[in-house]
Order: sequence, then C-alpha cells, then structure tokens
Amino acid sequence: MGKVDIEYRSRLTRRSALRKLAAFLAGSPLLRGQQDPFRDHSRVPAMNELLTALDFEPVAYAKIPRDAYDYMALGAEGEVTLRRNRQAFDWVSLVPKGAADSSSVNAAAEVLGIRMAFPIFVSPTATQGQLHPQGELAMHQGATAASGTLMMISVNASFPIEKIAAAAAGPVWYQLYARATVDENRELLERAQQAGCRAVAITADEPVGSYREPTLHDRHMSEGPGSGRGRAAATRNRQVQAPQNAKYGVTGGQPWLDWKLMDAIRSFIKVPLLAKGILTAESARACVAHGLDGIIVSNHGGRALDYSPSTLEALPEVVDAVQGRIPVLMDGGVRRGSDVLKALALGAKAVGLGRAPRWGLAGYGPAGTQRVLEIVQGELVLAMAATGRPRLESIDRTLVKIDF
Ligand code: FNR
Repeated sequence: MGKVDIEYRSRLTRRSALRKLAAFLAGSPLLRGQQDPFRDHSRVPAMNELLTALDFEPVAYAKIPRDAYDYMALGAEGEVTLRRNRQAFDWVSLVPKGAADSSSVNAAAEVLGIRMAFPIFVSPTATQGQLHPQGELAMHQGATAASGTLMMISVNASFPIEKIAAAAAGPVWYQLYARATVDENRELLERAQQAGCRAVAITADEPVGSYREPTLHDRHMSEGPGSGRGRAAATRNRQVQAPQNAKYGVTGGQPWLDWKLMDAIRSFIKVPLLAKGILTAESARACVAHGLDGIIVSNHGGRALDYSPSTLEALPEVVDAVQGRIPVLMDGGVRRGSDVLKALALGAKAVGLGRAPRWGLAGYGPAGTQRVLEIVQGELVLAMAATGRPRLESIDRTLVKIDF
C-alpha cells in the first residue's frame, strides 16, 4: 500500500464520523433520558395552545393542591346530578335557520340594569384564594378584561368584599347564604351594597353541606377516618354549624325557604334581589309572589342534592311559570358557547359559569379567567351565526329540538 493510500485510509471519513457519533449518543445519558418511559412528562402548555374551556381543567389539576381540586371538581354523593348537568346539553339539538355573517352577530344583553356584551356571567364560587394568591381580586380582573363580564361574589370569598369590588371596574353582584337573624343579614348586605354590588342573590339550594363520596373514598383508602383532607373538603365553609350532624361530616346552614326572612331582606335591600337554586315552577311562582327581582335556576353545580334535576331540564318549567315577569338566569354544566345558546333558547336571560373560570384562574391567573370567558363568548358568536340568529331577540325555542 502506497503512502497516499495509508494516509487516505486513516483519515476520518463521513461514514466513520457518523458511526462514532451514533456510538457516542447511544451511550449518552442525554439519549437515555429521552428514551426513559418513566421520565417526567409534565409540561404546562402555553395558554394559546388551549382551544376550549374544557382544556383548562387538567392544567388547573396540575397547578393546585389535590384538596383544592377535589373541593372544586366533585359533586354530591354519586355525582349523578353533576354528570346530568353536562349530559342534558347533549339531549338538545340546535336547528339552524340558515346562517348569518358572524361579523353581524351582536350578543349584547341587559339584565336588571347591567349592560352585558354577552349574556354570560361568573357564578359565585367560594374561596378562590385556593386557586391563586389574589383569589377573587384576580377573578374580578380577569372577568372585567373579558368585555366587562359580570362577576357574582360569594359570601364565602377569600378576601373582603370591598377589596374584591375595587380590584377592577366590571360589575359585581353579591351572593349570600342567609343568616339566621335579620340583623346579621342586614349587616352583610349593607356592606356589599356599599362596596358597589348591584344585586344580591340568596342561595336556596344548599341548606346543609353534603358528602363528597369520592373524597370519602380517598380518605378511607389513604388517610384514615377524620384525617385532614377528607374533612377539609367535606366541611364546607359554613358560619352556621349543626353540631349534631358534624360527626358525619355534614354541616348545617340556614333553611332558606323561610319566606318571612326573605320578605324582611326584601324590605331593606336597595338593589335587585334574586333567589339562586330554583328548580321548580312552584318555587318560581313563590319568588314572583314575594316580589323577588330575578331567579337563577341552579343546582349548585351538582354539589348539593344528588338526583336533583339537571338545570337545563328544569329551565323551561321555571321560565313558563314566570311568564316573563322577572328575568330567569341559569347555571350548571355550561362549558361551551353552544351550551349558552341552548340555555338562551330555553328562556334564560343570561348564563353562569362556575367551575370553568376557576380552571382559568388556577391555570394562568387573571389572564386564564379572561381567556376561558373569551373562548365561550367567541363560541357563542359562532353558534349564533351558524344557526342564523344574529341577535338575542331572534333566539327562541324553535332553535332547539329537545330529547330529555
Ligand atoms: C360553588 N357554588 C356556589 N354557589 C353559591 O351560591 N355560593 C358559593 O359559595 C358557591 N361555592 C362554590 C364553590 C365551588 C368550588 C363550585 C364549583 C361551585 C355553585 C356555583 O355558584 C354554580 O351554581 C355552579 O358552579 C355552576 O355549575 P358549573 O358551572 O360549575 O358546572
């Protein structure tokens, strides 16, 4: 072999370089890391990767402690009502009447003096400090950023009402679990009105806290009876306790349908008064007779009484009983713009979201709440366009086929 040949053969060829690189990578911890099926796959997606409100729930799950997630997600007992709230939307079809140009859609509404760009509001949910350090303040900021969405503030908020109301410019309403005496109620309601709440809703559907069976299951499996996690979730944030039942994890509350108390509250309150948690024609007629200004059809997001009807199923009965005398709002299971449209078609004047904006807040702070609301608002506009109903006045029961 000549000198040139020897030199040529000892040179690094492309093939041998690649072979060496492959051998290096095969032995490298970097590649091993890539191939390890048990490696940590977690990655918090950027917010713009999420396309629907439902996409925010797993992010919320990943970001907050399990107790806080369970408290938010679970329903009463076997969660039949929780599931039915969602299923009911599948039993209603939308029947298009031609299509409209989406740029011509206007979803603006007015409910009890509040102008809304969309007939969508944030339902009252307790202790948002579990989701974000700024809790309800951040929720209010996110709701306001989403075209001034109305936020209902729970009496069991993590922050004082004055701070929440002042955190952003959007409209706020107040939600109260009635207290036993008129004076206790008066004090809370005067404070809320002074803080700028422009209506008050008294919640009717949870006179007692209730079991969360899946939480109990976890507790029995992992932590033993009476341990922190289960008890914290089962013991709701109640001021009025029922000591005789506390040993079962059930807390007491105000038996709401005390019309004497409602009449007393009605007499001193200066803003509209609504009842939240109405599911029947009979209760709806009583609300009208007692001079209430509005009704929220709700079953507490399936958290109060299992086997109570889904809210979408109960809605037409309540709307028919009220006959337009006072506005009927609803919440429960609403996750998409088409859900909102179905509820509007069945007579709701506006539709509330409980869990969905909480997922946004837990995942991405106020920007997450804003995004969740904007997704649902955008979907509503598309659904109105696709069904040829560009104004709220053009939405009625002929828009839906019901198979309850
Ligand atoms: C609630 N809800 C509620 N309602 C109320 O009147 N006062 C409250 O303090 C609370 N707290 C609360 C906490 C959590 C974590 C949830 C999920 C719900 C009920 C709420 O206002 C609304 O009726 C339901 O959440 C609506 O159902 P979706 O949208 O969650 O399916």
